[in-house]
Amino acid sequence: MSSNQLDKKSEAWSALFSEPMSELVKRYTASVFFDQRLWQADIAGSLAHAEMLCHQGIISPDDRSSIERGMAQITEDIEAGRFEWKLDLEDVHLNIEARLTQLVGDAGKRLHTGRSRNDQVATDVRLWLRGEIDTLLPLLKAMQTALVDVADKNVDTILPGFTHMQVAQPVSFAHHLLAYVEMFARDADRLADVRKRVNQLPLGAAALAGTSYPLDRERVARTLGFDGVCQNSLDAVSDRDFALEFSAFAAIAMVHISRLAEELVLWMSQNFGFIDLADRYCTGSSIMPQKRNPDVAELARGKSGRVVGHLMGLITLMKGQPLTYNKDNQEDKEPLFDTVDTLRDTLRIMAEMVAGILVKPEAMERAALKGYATATDLADYLVKKGLPFRDAHETVAHAVKHAIGQGVDLSALPLATLQGFNATISDDVFEVLTLRGSLNARNVLGGTAPAQVRTQIARHRGRLG
Ligand code: ARG
Repeated sequence: MSSNQLDKKSEAWSALFSEPMSELVKRYTASVFFDQRLWQADIAGSLAHAEMLCHQGIISPDDRSSIERGMAQITEDIEAGRFEWKLDLEDVHLNIEARLTQLVGDAGKRLHTGRSRNDQVATDVRLWLRGEIDTLLPLLKAMQTALVDVADKNVDTILPGFTHMQVAQPVSFAHHLLAYVEMFARDADRLADVRKRVNQLPLGAAALAGTSYPLDRERVARTLGFDGVCQNSLDAVSDRDFALEFSAFAAIAMVHISRLAEELVLWMSQNFGFIDLADRYCTGSSIMPQKRNPDVAELARGKSGRVVGHLMGLITLMKGQPLTYNKDNQEDKEPLFDTVDTLRDTLRIMAEMVAGILVKPEAMERAALKGYATATDLADYLVKKGLPFRDAHETVAHAVKHAIGQGVDLSALPLATLQGFNATISDDVFEVLTLRGSLNARNVLGGTAPAQVRTQIARHRGRLG
């Protein structure tokens, strides 16, 4: 490197190159306009590296303090929006290093000793992602808490439970909401597990083979809060499976959100009328004055598409890549950034929206009374009277057919009529045919009986704190 100032990236590698890059190639290969987002991780990684180089006697204490002084200045400039990012310097790493050298001279040029951008970028992405995971975990918790809060007020609210989108059996609305709590709890578990594998330090792998300098990688790991050090230099610089795993977690979480969003949309429509969403989450129509559209829920549902798409993009990016680092990996950033942004905003907005839903218990209950939701209870009643279940099932099918013909619910059939289907039926059947009787009967672990649902709410409260 001849000049003291690294302002053309070609100068960062060598005099070997005899012609400059075209503007198109520069733009095509540069990542600085998106990877500048990694600046804090990049500076933290460099400071930890410099501290270790100094501790190991590889650079002098003077060089180390010059590097720290320069990085403090750069931090200030970036935060104040004064830092001049240069396309010519390709990426965040070269931009920061060049500016450091401009500020502190030779000490800046010594920072890259025993390091390559290959282990540097892998370290930066892991550091950055770990920080994002640590903001996502509380958001997943907040989402669960919002659902548990609404559930708490709706243990005795009865909703028709659906299978095949047909009325199946009555369930507690709280029970229904707690199903989503289970999903988000598993998402949080998955994320905590992913964090362990994200939090391993690549730095020290250098370009691919390790380095001849006596680095103390464990020391850098401790400084940066990594749980451990990547044990194979080739793997350290090349694999991005930590990003794939994160992306798979995010895709699953967004799919869970999309299911909830879809139900909110359905429940708010006039045909259901089970809930209302606050005006601040809805928009009107430019032509139909009566419309209030659940745009936020629809977008949450729609945005699951891009996050699933990013998983496909990332996994395809990795497929077939030979060891070790390949430039393909520069393409990991935009999908990863967008995945984090989309999931974070969606979790925030959905938790807020769920906390504010207006529940309409009468409409839910009215809907549960349509569709013979307690037919299974009548069959169970007959089983308790001694009938084999398959016979009871058949008998009730006849009773339902008759009730449909009369246009009434099973509970509205006279006792004598019911006895016509099976003589063991007595007037205690009417308790069984009520929605509440049906709920109370499902008093099995994980069932919808209010007693069970209350136990689950207490368990979640204890877990969520
Ligand atoms: N901008 C690059 C990336 O994101 C940094 C690593 C480049 N390394 C290299 N040898 N070209 O992957």
